[in-house]
This record gives sequence, C-alpha cells and structure tokens, in this order.
Amino acid sequence: MSAPGKPVAVVTGAGRGIGQAIAVELARGGYRLCLAARTREQLEETRAASGLAPVDSLIVLLDLAEAPAPAALIETALAHYGRLDVLINNAGWAPPRRALVKISEAEQDRMLAVNLRAPIALTRLAAAHMLKAGGGAIINVASTAGLRSPAMESIYAAAKAGLIAFSRSCFSELREGAVRVSVVIPGLVDTGLIPPNKHLDRALMLKPAAVAHAVHQILTAPPGACPAEIVIEPARNPERSR
Ligand SMILES: NC(=O)c1ccc[n+]([C@@H]2O[C@H](COP(=O)([O-])OP(=O)(O)OC[C@H]3O[C@@H](n4cnc5c(N)ncnc54)[C@H](OP(=O)(O)O)[C@@H]3O)[C@@H](O)[C@H]2O)c1
Repeated sequence: MSAPGKPVAVVTGAGRGIGQAIAVELARGGYRLCLAARTREQLEETRAASGLAPVDSLIVLLDLAEAPAPAALIETALAHYGRLDVLINNAGWAPPRRALVKISEAEQDRMLAVNLRAPIALTRLAAAHMLKAGGGAIINVASTAGLRSPAMESIYAAAKAGLIAFSRSCFSELREGAVRVSVVIPGLVDTGLIPPNKHLDRALMLKPAAVAHAVHQILTAPPGACPAEIVIEPARNPERSR
C-alpha cells in the first residue's frame, strides 16, 4: 500500500487527450493518481508526464464496457491507497458520426456502457466510500452533444444527456454528505476522438488543457461553493460552413 497522506484521484481514460491533461493537472495539484484505461503504453506516458513515482501513479488496465470493471477499479484503488478523494469519470467513446441505422448493436451497447453505465456505477461505488469517509468530489465529463442532440450522434448524445441528468441529481442528493458531484460539458476538443474532417478548423477547437482547467476550478472552489456544472465552448466556432 502507498503511504497515507496526500489525496487520491481516480481518472478514467487517463492515457491520452482530455484524461491525460486532467491527470497531469491533478498531479500538479498534489494528488496521487489511479490511472485507468485499456492501453498500458499510453498510461505509462501519462505517468511520466505527471512526474509521479509509480507507487503514487497506479496504473489499472480495464475495459469499462465490461460490467465488472467499475467495481474492480474502485477496489484496486482503495486496496493500493486506502483512500479515495476524487473520481474523474472521463473515459468516453463514440464511433465516427454515422446515421442511427448504420450503427451496430455492439457499437450501441459499447457507447451506452462506456459513456453512461460505467460512470454511473463508478459514481455509486465511489460515493458509498466517500460518504463513509466524510466527503469527496466526483466530476463527470459529458459533452455539449448531450445538450444539443446533433444529428448523426444520437446514441452518444443520449448517453451524455443521461450523464448530465445523472450528475445534476447526484449533486442534489449527495452534497449534504459532503460529496460534491459536478459535470463538465465541453464543446469540440482537439483529440483523437474527433477524426480528421475538412469541415473542422482544428486550431479553433478547445485544447485538452481547457477541460483540465475546469476540473482545477471545481476542485479549488472557495469553501462552501461547488461549481456544479461548467460548459466550456471554443471561443470561436471551429465548424466551417458546408
Ligand atoms: N474530444 C471532444 O471533442 C470531446 C468533446 C466533449 C466531450 N468529450 C468527452 O471527453 C472525454 C475524453 O475524450 P477525449 O476526447 O480525450 O477522447 P480520447 O482522446 O479518445 O481518449 C479517451 C480515453 O478513454 C479511454 N477509453 C475509451 N474507451 C474505454 C474503455 N472501454 N475502457 C476504458 N477506457 C476507455 C481511452 O483509452 P483506451 O482506448 O486505451 O482504453 C482514452 O484514454 C470523453 O468522455 C468524451 O466523450 C470529448
């Protein structure tokens, strides 16, 4: 078990993109980390970027589309560190934009599992621990797709809308137990999740660090205040007219 003391944050999807930026930001803020995803090399890169020793940057390989994964992740983090202060539900997945009728059942189920079922299960399990421990923070990474429901993103939008509704309800329910649940809702971010597209000006898209900054704002809010919901849009519209 790692030494007690510094707070501990679990970050899902920590191997690249937004999750990597959040992990690095949390390490800078004095957190020890539990880094979860499926690709070891990418998590090793995040570990190196965090500057943390391996004992303070535990790597957990798992597929959050699998039902037992959330419980395994929380149990592994608690067994290693003996505490859990922050959960960042960041892992997400969507295939390239496509008509609803062209989506397979397997893709449908994976989108719902990774973007909605896993963060719900992780929140439920982490909250149970945090309520007993006297408090904590849970931050869910949704998407403006969940607010706007664009065409060709129906299932992803449904999952993210569900995550926003879930986060709002959990905020109201858990705050009396000192567990703060927030949702960050980014617009287009320049990561590998968004494939090359001539209709997008990538230079105008948000950088992953902008989402990490919102996480920092939530975790460093003044006593007695909780930023329950942060929507971050690119300052200029990256979508070129067609
Ligand atoms: N990029 C955007 O424009 C944008 C906008 C709004 C919201 N978001 C949301 O922001 C979050 C991060 O997205 P991103 O753009 O940083 O995407 P990304 O670059 O594709 O990174 C996704 C991360 O999630 C992990 N992941 C994916 N499926 C997983 C699974 N089944 N089990 C465990 N880990 C899994 C990936 O690692 P492995 O593949 O190694 O498992 C990776 O570390 C997602 O929730 C996404 O929906 C993104």
